[in-house]
Amino acid sequence: MDRPYIICHMVTSLDGKVTGDFLGKSAYSGLIEDYYRIHREYSADGFLCGRVTMEGSFPQPPVSPAMYGGPPIAREDYIAEKAAFYAVAIDPQGKLWWSGRAIADTDEGYDGAHIIEVLTQSVSDAFLAHLRAKGVSYLFGGKTELNLALVAQKLKRHFGMEKLLLEGGGIVNGSFLQESLIDEISLVVVPAAEPSEQAVPLFKTGKYQIDVAAAASLRLKEAKKLDGGGLWLTYQKQ
Ligand SMILES: NC(=O)c1ccc[n+]([C@@H]2O[C@H](COP(=O)([O-])OP(=O)(O)OC[C@H]3O[C@@H](n4cnc5c(N)ncnc54)[C@H](OP(=O)(O)O)[C@@H]3O)[C@@H](O)[C@H]2O)c1
Repeated sequence: MDRPYIICHMVTSLDGKVTGDFLGKSAYSGLIEDYYRIHREYSADGFLCGRVTMEGSFPQPPVSPAMYGGPPIAREDYIAEKAAFYAVAIDPQGKLWWSGRAIADTDEGYDGAHIIEVLTQSVSDAFLAHLRAKGVSYLFGGKTELNLALVAQKLKRHFGMEKLLLEGGGIVNGSFLQESLIDEISLVVVPAAEPSEQAVPLFKTGKYQIDVAAAASLRLKEAKKLDGGGLWLTYQKQ
């Protein structure tokens, strides 16, 4: 395969939502721990999230967008370092002004992951100069829109990634599903309902359309009971 094997690994409510109060309830903390344990046990080369999830889950000290007075910066992929584990951020417009080259997190499954920004060519020179100064890697996935298949190929070609965890949110999951780039789905299902209309579903449509046929080739691989009334469901592409 010319790209990593991609596993969409998420926690959901019974009704398929990936956000909501249920995630913070102490009754389900054991299942959230199971999610992190499974993340570690997959022994992937990295994880990938959309810009909204990166902002919310891995906040860094705020950095103000800088002025840039240097020469134009070529739109060429930039490999700041080769690392054991990567955090891939889908940030087409260059909104994540990272303050450092790696994720800082209390969970060892995320802490220290080297950041790779996935950009379109429409980002500013100031943003590229900032990423270089901070030691953050970046790659281009298209002029104004991202070609996710190309992005996946570059993650393998530039960084040697063989296995990648796709970890939300709903928009990024939906766009990978639409492009048939999900090889496996791993769901930790919490026995809670999340009826709020604002709650984000596992696959969210919108600007990035999802064809209902996109999931047709996925088949249940295994269903395991988890302590605390949860389930671990895995699906695999035929
Ligand atoms: N339960 C779980 O396991 C779990 C896991 C992860 C996240 N979450 C939750 O999910 C929520 C966020 O989900 P979300 O669906 O709103 O956002 P998201 O998928 O995290 O991020 C969406 C943004 O990422 C960029 N993006 C994603 N796919 C793209 C594509 N194909 N082409 C171009 N840009 C793309 C766009 O950024 P721009 O807007 O900058 O263009 C888009 O608006 C958070 O509350 C988070 O806590 C839950």
